[in-house]
Amino acid sequence: TDTGTLGARPPMGWNSWNTFGCNINEKLIREAADSLVSSGMAKAGYQYVNIDDCWAEKDRDPVTGQYVPSRTRFPSGIKALADYVHAKGLKLGIYTSAGTLTCAKTMPGSLGHEDLDARTFASWDVDLLKYDNCNNQGVPAKDRYQAMGDALRKSGRDILYSICEWGANDPWLWGKSVGGQMWRTTGDINASWGSVMSILDQQAALSPYSGPGGWNDPDMLEVGNPGLTVAESRAHMSLWSLLNAPLIAGNDVRSMPAWVRTMLTDPDVLAVDQDWGGRQGMRIRDDGDQEVWSKPMSDGSVAVVLLNRGAAAQTISTSAAELKLPEAKAYTVRDLWANTEAASNGAIRAQVGSHDAVMLRITPGTTTALPPLVTVVVQPSAP
Ligand code: GLA
Repeated sequence: TDTGTLGARPPMGWNSWNTFGCNINEKLIREAADSLVSSGMAKAGYQYVNIDDCWAEKDRDPVTGQYVPSRTRFPSGIKALADYVHAKGLKLGIYTSAGTLTCAKTMPGSLGHEDLDARTFASWDVDLLKYDNCNNQGVPAKDRYQAMGDALRKSGRDILYSICEWGANDPWLWGKSVGGQMWRTTGDINASWGSVMSILDQQAALSPYSGPGGWNDPDMLEVGNPGLTVAESRAHMSLWSLLNAPLIAGNDVRSMPAWVRTMLTDPDVLAVDQDWGGRQGMRIRDDGDQEVWSKPMSDGSVAVVLLNRGAAAQTISTSAAELKLPEAKAYTVRDLWANTEAASNGAIRAQVGSHDAVMLRITPGTTTALPPLVTVVVQPSAP
């Protein structure tokens, strides 16, 4: 979780867009904040409560030029919402676009109004800005994102800068230099296996560009949303954590089933995402339907995702050598979802269900008398 420096670790929170789209109001945002606390998500590290598109009136204030929060849906204003969220120990995020209108076109963007808008967000005690790329009038991306980055810095408040440029102009090359703590690398996610896998494929070459202070953002989570099975949600959560992705939940946290809460708050999985070493995981093997992804952890262990993209269950193997672990007589293999531990001589085989993933953390040496890994880790079925 955030250690004080903005973006020192991948930001965690919730955002209204994936489930609610433009259908938002201050009651929903307050209830989302309440639910983050009551579900244990806040304690697990989900800190930001982010209002996405459609929160403002179509016209700016004719006198001051400032944004006007929707009079019907946010009648108490954004400052009151920030106070509410802060009183719960959480942070408030807001959204606009580096263009003349936002993507949903229901409210103005900040292009040409960067200083005023950053000052306004600061005066409302906002803690994060997601800055989109729609209706940009063809102004070069770097210039537009630099203008808002400078404005946020001058605003006098620490506002985490989430660049949402969809990877259009390689923001991983300049996102940090314009002041961003995270940058979207791809177009919009949706709650389907095809979307999750296509975004994943676009991350494979980007690991060098992510680290403490500036993170690749493969987009918000669809864990628990209709369109993904339990297994597919588990694979999505495993992979996003291995990628050090910002973990911004996109489900209805007010009414999530127990398995969704458990999946979003698994301490071992979150520890991989938040590992201070901040080295994004990589695909180390791509064998058609089966893939091996690994991430070096700061304590010398390696986190592993064994991914089965195929339509049938299959056995996926790897080894300490393939994972570049130092040689040892024995290794401790922890199954992060099943919460089991076993000892291995270096060989690892797992039975992985269709559209599912097994997530492991492998440490050289064993500390206790563990049962031997009998070559197969069986993925538990739906929780
Ligand atoms: C773009 C972004 C999405 C969301 C919508 C809102 O599509 O990429 O994440 O913010 O705009 O309109």
